Amino acid sequence: MKLIKLTRDYKCEWKSLIGEFEKNNEKLTPLSMKGNANTFEDFLIESNNNSKGINLKDGIVPSDVYFLVDDNSKYLIGAIDIRHYLNKYLLQYGGNIGYGIRASERKKGYATQMLALALEKCKEIGISRVLITCFKSNIASANTIIKNGGILENEVIEDENIKQRYWIQL
Ligand SMILES: CC(C)(COP(=O)(O)OP(=O)(O)OC[C@H]1O[C@@H](n2cnc3c(N)ncnc32)[C@H](O)[C@@H]1OP(=O)(O)O)[C@@H](O)C(=O)NCCC(=O)NCCS
Repeated sequence: MKLIKLTRDYKCEWKSLIGEFEKNNEKLTPLSMKGNANTFEDFLIESNNNSKGINLKDGIVPSDVYFLVDDNSKYLIGAIDIRHYLNKYLLQYGGNIGYGIRASERKKGYATQMLALALEKCKEIGISRVLITCFKSNIASANTIIKNGGILENEVIEDENIKQRYWIQL
């Protein structure tokens, strides 16, 4: 398995991934798998800008979105977003990393593998301690974090839901 950034020849695979979330009426997670783009071409521009910190809206920090693929396939299994540093909101609620696996590929260990690969990317950009948050009710996500070494710091309330804050030391 590996993490890739998308290039122009991934248009169909990208549409398929987004389409699966939408077909199931699921929120796109991470949101940056599409961002504010209406077209694939706009997505490529926006994600490249996000990575370089160009044209960021207020309160948005530079970030990289990667997609999980099998070594010999272009099929996109999920996506993971790495925020380069924490601002006030991210420190309290959002964390460094957000991720999602397409519904048809869940419970196969992919999120656990995808997070492990993303932690390597975090090291490369100099992050030494990674914050990941999830709602307490999201057992699958909490397990994914714990299996990658996450230590629960505390729980906070966001939108009347309990959110857990985990740290992973790299
Ligand atoms: C959360 C999510 C990424 C997990 O992806 P996944 O590929 O199914 O996770 P994995 O297969 O790596 O499983 C991780 C652990 O969670 C457990 N798990 C998976 N789905 C579960 C479920 N529905 N209920 C309880 N445990 C679950 C797995 O058994 C595994 O633990 P184990 O090895 O101890 O058994 C996926 O469900 C998803 O994309 N959800 C929607 C988006 C989302 O919630 N993202 C996280 C936001 S914080």
